[in-house]
Amino acid sequence: MNTPDFYETERALSEYLLFHYGSPAQTLPWAFGPATALNYPARCVSECLEPARLPAHARALDLGCAVGRSTFELARHCSEVIGIDSSHRFIEVARHLQQQGSMPYAYVEEGRLTTPTTAVVPAEIDRRRVTFEPGDAQALRPDLGSFDAVLLANLVDRLPDPGRCLGLLPSLVRPGGQVILTTPCTWLENYTARAQWLGGFEQDGHPVRTLKTLQAVLDPHFMLARTLDLPFLIREHARKFQWSVALATVWIRR
Ligand SMILES: C[S@@+](CC[C@H](N)C(=O)[O-])C[C@H]1O[C@@H](n2cnc3c(N)ncnc32)[C@H](O)[C@@H]1O
Repeated sequence: MNTPDFYETERALSEYLLFHYGSPAQTLPWAFGPATALNYPARCVSECLEPARLPAHARALDLGCAVGRSTFELARHCSEVIGIDSSHRFIEVARHLQQQGSMPYAYVEEGRLTTPTTAVVPAEIDRRRVTFEPGDAQALRPDLGSFDAVLLANLVDRLPDPGRCLGLLPSLVRPGGQVILTTPCTWLENYTARAQWLGGFEQDGHPVRTLKTLQAVLDPHFMLARTLDLPFLIREHARKFQWSVALATVWIRR
């Protein structure tokens, strides 16, 4: 089972570069596989962001950006986008992609057998709009400013204290701004102490669901605009995949 330092490893780097930049044929070499789960980091933006709500010169923030694909996708709609992740290795590679537009890597076929390839940022995206920095989504630097869109993709169930991260959102998001929060609700004690889980347990004999807790915590400051079920596929090797369905919620700052 993965632990928080997984995101500094070369294995995680390879998996996430493929997850973010791999072609459909590289990610899923089986015609009978779940193709609707491909391209998740791009779909978090294309299926969830509401561009009509953005002002001119919008600012966006991607918390837990990993190797940056959603951050670049936000730059299709926003003139300034900051990607933040606690993994120094991921941020190093995301910065390389921002500067060079591509990054060679290898993905696993079986055991030690790998296939070399290159991650490429789509050419039509203006990379000058994007910056990456290391940081803790639970304790952001105070001079980050405010944003018209904040994305938290598959982040909250990997944090020691997700409630603390959610508590930062009202001051980060401008009135009318949007928060896109996706999570497969995979609560695990090696990432999040049981007392901090947002869902997935019983209280007073009743099941507590992540969506209900998000509503209770965010509703004073945000209106829930939409919920979606977003499938995604992470390839471990040619014959092993994680197929998940994230709960995606879109919130508008009151
Ligand atoms: C499951 S991955 C999701 C990455 C990306 N958003 C995506 O959808 O592919 C979780 C990410 O959160 C990052 N992360 C974990 N704890 C963090 C923290 N306290 N602050 C910022 N990022 C964190 C990890 O390094 C990893 O990149």
